[in-house]
Amino acid sequence: MLRSYLDFVRAVSLDRLGRVGVILVTTSFVSFMVMQVGMLLGVVTNAYVGLIVYLLFPVLFVLGLAIIPLAWYRQRKRTGKSIDELLEQSFGPEGVQGRAAGSRVFRTVAILTLANVLILGVASIKMLHFMDSAEFCGTACHSVMSPEWTTYQASPHAQVACVECHVGEGMGALVNSKLNGAWQMVSATFNLYERPIPTPVHQLRPARETCEKCHWPEKFYGSRLQTRTSYANDDQSTPRYTTLNLKIDPGAAGNSGVHWHVDPENEVRYASVDDRREEMIWVESRQPDGSVRRFVNTRLTVPDPEAEDLRTMDCVDCHNRATHIYEEPERAVDEQIRLGAINRELPYIRREAVKAVRGGYPSLEAAEQGIRAGLESFYRRSYPDKVSSWYDRIDQAVEAIVRIWARNIHPGMKIGWGAYPSFLGHSDTPGCFRCHNRDIRDAEGRWISDDCTLCHSILAYGESTPFAYLEPADEKARNRPMHEFLRDEFLTSIED
Ligand code: HEC
Ligand code: HEC
Ligand code: HEC
Ligand code: HEC
Ligand code: HEC
Repeated sequence: MLRSYLDFVRAVSLDRLGRVGVILVTTSFVSFMVMQVGMLLGVVTNAYVGLIVYLLFPVLFVLGLAIIPLAWYRQRKRTGKSIDELLEQSFGPEGVQGRAAGSRVFRTVAILTLANVLILGVASIKMLHFMDSAEFCGTACHSVMSPEWTTYQASPHAQVACVECHVGEGMGALVNSKLNGAWQMVSATFNLYERPIPTPVHQLRPARETCEKCHWPEKFYGSRLQTRTSYANDDQSTPRYTTLNLKIDPGAAGNSGVHWHVDPENEVRYASVDDRREEMIWVESRQPDGSVRRFVNTRLTVPDPEAEDLRTMDCVDCHNRATHIYEEPERAVDEQIRLGAINRELPYIRREAVKAVRGGYPSLEAAEQGIRAGLESFYRRSYPDKVSSWYDRIDQAVEAIVRIWARNIHPGMKIGWGAYPSFLGHSDTPGCFRCHNRDIRDAEGRWISDDCTLCHSILAYGESTPFAYLEPADEKARNRPMHEFLRDEFLTSIED
C-alpha cells in the first residue's frame, strides 16, 4: 500500500511543479481530515476555521490535482518523450518493471480520482451546510455582523438559523443567496458596505416562504394581556404599570384584531414615500367582495411610485424587529430593575442609570469606564456618608448597565440608540399610525380607524397598580371618563 503510494508520488512528481501539486493535495487532504474530526468532536468551533476548512482546503486540493497533469503535460512538451518514456525515466531503465509500475500508477490514479470526487462531493455538501449555520452567518465577518448576532442571540428566534428567514425555499433562493454572499464577502473585505447596514433588507424572502413556515396566519392567538413596568425618575424609582389587552386575532365573534391584515382573505397594499416605509402615499385594502378601497394621504402631493416599489403588507411590516431587537435605553433600564439586576434601593438609580447608558462612548472599554465613573461620582457626591456600604450594589448596577450598552450600541457599525426602530405599536416610530391616521382618507373621507380601542384596551397607563382601571376602589380611575369606557369595553370583551 505504502509502496504503491510512494511509487505513485514518484511517478507523478516528475519535476518541481509536479511535486508542488502532490504536496498541495496531500497536505490539504490531511488538514481537511484533521480539522473535520476536530469539528465533529466539537474541539474546533470557530467560524474562521470553518471558512478555512470548507473553502480554502478544498480549493488547494483541487488546485493540486490540476497542477499534477499540467506538470506531466509540460514535461512531455519540453522533453518530447512519450508517457511510457517518462515513466521509464522515473522508474529506472528496467523497462518491464517500469511498465509494471506504470500500470500500477494508472490503477492508483483511477482509484484516487474516484475517491477525490467523493471527497469533494462530501466537502461541498459540508461547506454549504456549514455556511447555512447561524454561527457562520453571525461570526464569519465578525465586526460586520456583530450587532445582528448579538441581538439575535437574545431573541425568541435564537434557535432559528439565519437562513430560515433570510433565504427562502428552492434552488433559486439558494443560488441567489450564494451570489449575494460572494458579493458580501468582497464588500466586507474591501470595506465597501454601508454602516449601519441599511434596512429594509431587499433580499428578504416573502413572509410566506419564511415566517409562515413556522407561524401561520390562521393560527389563532386570541388576545394578549401585557403589563409593562416602568420606573419613575424619583429617589425611590417608583414603579408604574401600563397594561394593555392586545387584540391580536379577530376571533369568531367578529371583533377587530391585529392579524386581520395577514388573514388570507384580506390584502393590504401600500405605496410609501421612500424605502424606509415610514410615510405612506396611499394604502389599499381589498374588500370581501373583491373591490378595492383606496386611502390617500391628503397631506402629500408626490407622484405615484413605480410599480415595483409597491408593497403587499406582510408580517415584517409590523414585526420588522422580530429578531434583531434593539432596546430603548429607558425600557432596557426598567427591565433590568424589574429583574433585580439593578437595585432599586440605590436612590435615583433609574434616572442615573439612564443617564449613564445614554452617554456617547466610543468603545466598550470607554463605556465600562464612563458608566462606572458616572455612577460612582454621583453617589460619592450626593451620599458621601453612605456610599461605602453601597459599592456592591453599584458594581452590580454598573455590570447590568454595561450589558445594556453592549447589546444595543455598536460604534464600529455606527449603531447608536434608535438606529433600528420598531414598527410594532407606536412608541419607537409612528408604527401602526403610519396608516391608522386621519390624514389618510378614502373617497368618502373616511380614515383607517385610530380609535384607541381598535387594537387594545388600556387597563392601566402609568398607574401604581397593573389593573388600576378595573379596580372600582380606584378613585382616580373612576373619575376618568375615557377609562370608565375602556373598563366597560374590557369587561364585555372578557364576557365574550
Ligand atoms: C426570525 C427571522 C430572522 C432570523 C432568524 C434572522 N433574521 Fe436577520 N432580519 C430579519 C428581519 C425581519 C429583518 C428586517 C427586515 C426589514 O426590515 O426589511 C432582518 C434584518 C437583518 C439585517 C439588516 C440589519 C437590520 O437589523 O435590519 C442583517 C444584517 C441581518 N438581518 C442578519 C442576520 C443574521 C446574521 C442572522 C443570524 C445570526 C439573522 N439575520 C437571523 C429576520 C431574521
Ligand atoms: C424556523 C421557524 C421560525 C421561523 C422561520 C420564524 N419563527 Fe417566529 N418563532 C419561532 C419560535 C420557535 C418562536 C419562539 C416561541 C416561544 O418562545 O414560545 C418564535 C416566536 C415568534 C414571536 C413571538 C415573540 C414573543 O414575543 O413571544 C413572533 C412575534 C415571531 N416569532 C414572529 C416571526 C416573524 C415575523 C418571522 C419571519 C420574519 C418568524 N417569526 C419566523 C419560530 C420561527
Ligand atoms: C400599511 C398600512 C397599515 C399599517 C402599517 C397598519 N394597518 Fe391596521 N389596517 C390597515 C387597513 C387598510 C385596515 C382596514 C381598514 C378598513 O378597511 O376600514 C386596517 C385594519 C386594522 C384593524 C381592524 C381589523 C378588523 O378586524 O376589522 C386593526 C385591529 C388594525 N388594523 C391594527 C393595526 C395595528 C396594531 C398595526 C400596527 C402594529 C397596524 N394595524 C398597522 C392598514 C394598516
Ligand atoms: C398589522 C401588524 C401585524 C402584522 C402584519 C402581523 N403581526 Fe403578528 N403581532 C402584531 C402585534 C401588535 C402583536 C402583539 C404584540 C405583542 O404581543 O407585543 C403580534 C403578535 C404576534 C405573535 C405572538 C403572539 C403571542 O401570543 O405571543 C406572533 C407569533 C406573530 N404576531 C406572528 C406574526 C406572523 C407570522 C405574521 C405574518 C403572517 C404577523 N404576525 C403579522 C402585529 C402584526
Ligand atoms: C392601530 C392600532 C392601535 C391604535 C389605534 C392605538 N394603539 Fe396603542 N398600541 C398598539 C400596539 C400594537 C401596542 C403594543 C406594542 C408592543 O407590543 O410593544 C400599543 C401600545 C400602547 C401603549 C403602551 C406603550 C408603552 O410604552 O408601553 C399605550 C400607552 C398605548 N398604546 C396607548 C394608546 C392610545 C392612548 C391610543 C389612542 C390614541 C392608542 N394607543 C391607539 C396599537 C394601537
